[in-house]
Amino acid sequence: MKRIISPSLLAADFTRLDEQIHSVEEAGASRLHLDVMDGNFVPNITFGPLIVEAINRLTDLRLDTHLMIEKPHRYFEPFVQAGADTLIIHVEASENLDHDLSTIRTLGASPGVALNPDTDFNILLPHLNLIDYILIMSVFPGFGAQSFIENTLENMHKAVAARKDHAYLIAVDGGVNTQTIDRVFSTGIDIAVVGSNLFGAPDILLRYREL
Ligand code: DX5
Ligand code: ZN
Repeated sequence: MKRIISPSLLAADFTRLDEQIHSVEEAGASRLHLDVMDGNFVPNITFGPLIVEAINRLTDLRLDTHLMIEKPHRYFEPFVQAGADTLIIHVEASENLDHDLSTIRTLGASPGVALNPDTDFNILLPHLNLIDYILIMSVFPGFGAQSFIENTLENMHKAVAARKDHAYLIAVDGGVNTQTIDRVFSTGIDIAVVGSNLFGAPDILLRYREL
């Protein structure tokens, strides 16, 4: 268990992106979380490879790119070329999970899989040897600043229990804040993705330390 905080830029001030990224770098972050939404898989639209490429020029931090898009395989190449280090696809959106995960690895990125709150972790059991990063959603994807869904702790426990023969990282995304983070990390997961609670704080450095 590593206890890493991965700032989600969805909650950052995009007019001051450079400054906001440098604040979390200074605070000690090693990886950023980028939320890509297509207005189809989720009812919201954010950004595509163009912005990922700009972010990549602003920082050397690892870019974990969370693809909340239908048929994600159509966009693997442009996102890897833009500098995405991990490509996280939704098991609910992929048409051929094994093929997608292998393609991501062949392109030179780390394959990740995200699970919606109502998808059971066990769906991943046949695929674990192809996965570097598991993202357990603790809210329904689409928007920041939603409340943590308690029964997703079960998926966290299952992901930790199934890891004994594998080496994947386990991350949790949605509603993680100073109130919920202890419960999340106590399951044994490695990475807490934090958006609004970090970038919405009056002092980002201080909040990072509190978390
Ligand atoms: C939700 C996104 C999250 C989001 C988390 O669809 O996948 O990464 O930014 O935001 P907070 O931390 O505000 O719940
Ligand atoms: Zn996300």
